[in-house]
Amino acid sequence: MSINNIKFILNKAIQSHILCEKEILYLIQSKESKKLFDIANKVRLKYVGNGVHLRALIEFSNYCKQNCLYCGLRSDNFKIIRYRLKLKEIINLANKAKYYGYKTIVLQSGEDNYYDIKKMSKIISEIKKLDFALTLSLGEKTFEEYKAYRVAGADRYLLKIETTDEILYHKLNPGMNLKNRMNCIENIKKLGFEIGSGIIVGLPGQTLKSIVKDIIYLKSIPVDMVGIGPFIYNPDTPIKNINSKNLFELSLKIMAILRLLMPDINIAATTAMETLNNRGRIIALQSGANVIMPNATKAIYKKYYKIYPGKICIDESPVHCRICIENKIKSIKRYVSNDKGYHCKVNLLSQ
Ligand code: 5AD
Ligand code: SF4
Ligand code: FES
Repeated sequence: MSINNIKFILNKAIQSHILCEKEILYLIQSKESKKLFDIANKVRLKYVGNGVHLRALIEFSNYCKQNCLYCGLRSDNFKIIRYRLKLKEIINLANKAKYYGYKTIVLQSGEDNYYDIKKMSKIISEIKKLDFALTLSLGEKTFEEYKAYRVAGADRYLLKIETTDEILYHKLNPGMNLKNRMNCIENIKKLGFEIGSGIIVGLPGQTLKSIVKDIIYLKSIPVDMVGIGPFIYNPDTPIKNINSKNLFELSLKIMAILRLLMPDINIAATTAMETLNNRGRIIALQSGANVIMPNATKAIYKKYYKIYPGKICIDESPVHCRICIENKIKSIKRYVSNDKGYHCKVNLLSQ
């Protein structure tokens, strides 16, 4: 391919928001990533503006019945101390988040059946009374469960596909099934949730070609929100260590490409990105992202929600993170958005 290819591909992406597999792969492999990041930043400004949506993350249980090989919350990890928050504690954290000015709560846990439909519905309706947009991130559930959450008032649901490489998925997620996960995503959409998904970048055995297919899958859903996280090795898991040096840049590229392909969606500058680069979230905000999910869990629990080591903000209080992140956002001449930050769909044909 000629030197002008990058220009050609980026131009095509800006105009049509459609790229073929070869073009996506070319962008991922290109050394000229700065061009990609700058264009993604411009597209972000044009379609979603300079506001950054903050989502207060409450990690309310680190119990998980699944056993994903890469994750510290896996059921076979007996080294972590498990905790579950009670309804009152969760509402207490939500009230504090309200006071700090958050407009969205994200309730996240491992796949923990302790919180049945009745308990979850109560938590959801109590949080909705505080006038938050509410996102759930509880893993794979039945259609009836998703429906009950929706009826109780939840607005959005995050379920990462992790990888669409069937062989890799089944190797890394024993007892789980890729088709079933895709089916969950369809059910979530059918029920009228805003759907968020994403992948882990750099899983051992993952290829760039499979990542290209992941990108196409995310566009085909199509997602309302996306989060791209680099793989971070956790020594308390059976997976082998890999060199994650280039994974920050690779994750950033994938995120930027998703911005070009889906210009109006909400894209998170992820915590895992900042774990690999201490300016990771700011760099992501300048490469296509418009969302940050600061941790609003009590400091005493945060350290036990150890999906991978080195997670940022472990010792900081929720209020500290709230102030810290606003300062960072202002330092790049962006501002904290004052609305709930729903996905505002733009008619791409009229652009
Ligand atoms: N590195 C990065 N992200 C991980 N996740 C799980 N384990 C890891 C890891 N080792 C992410 C997955 C999952 C979420 C709970 O955390 O994407 O959806
Ligand atoms: Fe559980 Fe999710 Fe971790 Fe898998 S990745 S073990 S489902 S928390
Ligand atoms: Fe937590 Fe900066 S966002 S310390």
